[in-house]
Amino acid sequence: MVGPVVIRPATADDAPFLAEMLAAAALWRPDAPPRPTDEVLADPAIAHYVSGWPRPGDVGVIAEEGSDAVGAAWCRFLPADDRGYGFVAADVPELSIGVVAGARGRGIGRRLLLDLVSELGRRRIARVSLSVEIDNPAMGLYSDVGFVEVARAEGAATMVFDTTATA
Ligand SMILES: CC(C)(COP(=O)(O)OP(=O)(O)OC[C@H]1O[C@@H](n2cnc3c(N)ncnc32)[C@H](O)[C@@H]1OP(=O)(O)O)[C@@H](O)C(=O)NCCC(=O)NCCS
Repeated sequence: MVGPVVIRPATADDAPFLAEMLAAAALWRPDAPPRPTDEVLADPAIAHYVSGWPRPGDVGVIAEEGSDAVGAAWCRFLPADDRGYGFVAADVPELSIGVVAGARGRGIGRRLLLDLVSELGRRRIARVSLSVEIDNPAMGLYSDVGFVEVARAEGAATMVFDTTATA
């Protein structure tokens, strides 16, 4: 027993952990061959979710168990000419999330999502979006938390959470 899981704001020091969680999200399939984080982040379509963290407008939360980071959820505004997979509009940040393999299925991802959308609500950011492949079980978690599917293409769904609905 290493103690309770605590959720705290993400800081500049968390950049390497966010990169690690981003790589885990990109390689979510259980049968995905393991690849080094650096190699995953060499893809600009992936890297732009964390590069230069933190940038103005970035918001993130970290789950910690003892002194170990075990999960992260964060979001970033991406412009129309450098859009992410879950792009809806330039004023809607895109969310990324990952929990370390050994800590999944214990409610940490749900807590990270709820904390992040609460913080966005406090900052008067009305919507946050994400992209999820439709065969990823994470899609059920997002729906459960209140994300709504707004588009679907090429096996992936774009989902949006409205923070004003819970304020
Ligand atoms: C998706 C993820 C962040 C969820 O975090 P978590 O702490 O495991 O989630 P919770 O325990 O709060 O919620 C569990 C729910 O998430 C879903 N889930 C997705 N992947 C899961 C996994 N590997 N293990 C357990 N649950 C998973 C299940 O639907 C589960 O629902 P249930 O409780 O009704 O069975 C985490 O499993 C993860 O990092 N997965 C790999 C990376 C990934 O897929 N990222 C998202 C890309 S869009």
